[in-house]
Amino acid sequence: MTTLTRELKPLLLFLVTITSSTLLPVQSDNTNHVYSPCADTTVQVSDGFTLSIAFSSSKAFFFNSTLQLSPCDSRLSLTSQNSQISVFRPKVDEISLLTINTSSFSPGDYGGYMVAFTGRKYAARSLPAFVANSTYTVTSFTLVLEFKKGRLQNLYWKRDGCAQCSGNSKFVCLNNQDCAIGTSSCIKNGGSV
Ligand SMILES: *[C@@H]1O[C@H](CO)[C@@H](O)[C@H](O)[C@H]1NC(C)=O
Ligand SMILES: *[C@@H]1O[C@H](CO)[C@@H](O)[C@H](O)[C@H]1NC(C)=O
Ligand SMILES: *[C@@H]1O[C@H](CO)[C@@H](O)[C@H](O)[C@H]1NC(C)=O
Repeated sequence: MTTLTRELKPLLLFLVTITSSTLLPVQSDNTNHVYSPCADTTVQVSDGFTLSIAFSSSKAFFFNSTLQLSPCDSRLSLTSQNSQISVFRPKVDEISLLTINTSSFSPGDYGGYMVAFTGRKYAARSLPAFVANSTYTVTSFTLVLEFKKGRLQNLYWKRDGCAQCSGNSKFVCLNNQDCAIGTSSCIKNGGSV
């Protein structure tokens, strides 16, 4: 457990699993030349795939308070709000560990929620997930991407419960689904984690 917490700091960890029921056959390495997170693409095995995570308040991801839109949708005007975007490029059919260095970035300063997203016409976005507020910071997440015929069909946060951190006094379990540490113990806020 100590080893685990040592590895966790000072990073947000994203375990990304990409599954593909019927991917197109492999022709060559990295055939996907779409790098914008707001453009559409199809992928095959071993392609890179552009994926983004937007950080903002939970309500910033909803249009007119009710309709959740992709952060690429200009109706949300995320860019004019307090938000931050990270772009990643994991590979299809691999499990990727993505990280965000939080020693200089506090998700709580940007609303504390995040949405993973990609694509425009075939836009996929996750539900907003709680990352941090002034009290708690969740440090690891599992994101699942499901492809069908090379096109992304589904993207969601997989909740593993709190077995990982049960019994570790540094962590608390939020809503029976997320292991979180005290935000005051984060390095950015003068703590040690
Ligand atoms: C926003 O929601 C309100 C009430 O649900 C509705 O009357 C209004 O037409 C909506 N506005 C837009 C631009 O969709
Ligand atoms: C995180 O960022 C800090 C400051 O920018 C840097 O010193 C540190 O090495 C980085 N950690 C990792 C794991 O990249
Ligand atoms: C932070 O989030 C936790 C879990 O959602 C909640 O219980 C707590 O009241 C929040 N604290 C603040 C200061 O918003």
